[in-house]
Amino acid sequence: MIAKVRKAVFPAAGLGTRFLPATKAQPKEMLPVVDKPLIQYGVEEAMQSGVQNIIIVTGRGKSAIEDHFDVSFELEHLLETRHKRDLLATVRAISDMIDVSYVRQKEALGLGHAVLRAKELVGHEPFAVILSDDIIDGDTPCLRQLLDIYEFYNAPVVALMEVPRDSISSYGVVDAEPISHNGGKDRLYRIRNMVEKPKASEAPSNLAIIGRYVLTPEVFTSLDAVEPGSGGEIQLTDGLKHVLRSRPIYGYRFEGKRYDAGDKLGFLQATVEFALKRHDLGEAFRAYLKNLPL
Ligand code: G1P
Repeated sequence: MIAKVRKAVFPAAGLGTRFLPATKAQPKEMLPVVDKPLIQYGVEEAMQSGVQNIIIVTGRGKSAIEDHFDVSFELEHLLETRHKRDLLATVRAISDMIDVSYVRQKEALGLGHAVLRAKELVGHEPFAVILSDDIIDGDTPCLRQLLDIYEFYNAPVVALMEVPRDSISSYGVVDAEPISHNGGKDRLYRIRNMVEKPKASEAPSNLAIIGRYVLTPEVFTSLDAVEPGSGGEIQLTDGLKHVLRSRPIYGYRFEGKRYDAGDKLGFLQATVEFALKRHDLGEAFRAYLKNLPL
């Protein structure tokens, strides 16, 4: 029997320095793309993938995230008295949506350290990790695609994407061998090695790890064992490399479009493309864009 993935960990304790000054007093995860905070895109992806329990690793100054997923009595009351039924449903859907728990990461010591903070809440079962900076738009939610591989191979899986050489040093990069799956040989890989943020000249491939993972609990033991790596931080990539010594890890080149919403340009691209797809905004926004003297 392959254990079902029930929990998704959302590291959300970073300082958001790439988005200053907007993130000085507001968590990066709460920046809205159109009208929905970044983290809600990730939470909805988890729900649509069948993962109901959300664990958010927060830090100082992140209480807006907790408030966002909590019930807002005053707001609901106001919307009710003003007969704003649609808005009320939208607001209620957020707090009804999830079973959420929080754990604090007192110091921003790296992604691996953040994931390790969720160890007690995860317990001894497989789990997902979602980095909400990476918004992935696709017909099948990216996490669901990874879960299908996990359920087939009973092994950890990371999301992969080909990236241009000149940006490869911003990512965890894999050395991986393509393997056949479902009659195709161009999406699934067995990972041989991985390295966090290599120099372009030293990168083992152009396949970058994107912020979706399905992990098994031995990663916690590995994260306990690894030394600080790139940037002096405990890296999740290093923890996974340690796991590789004892079991295979797969990589899946997911179907869908990924936006790096933690980066200003990526954030703007996501905003424009999501706005264009909206039924209530798309048409007017498209007309506006067409009239810009570009
Ligand atoms: C993190 C991971 C990196 C991964 C990236 C994907 O880096 O450490 O391995 O490739 O997310 O977005 P960060 O972007 O937090 O520096």
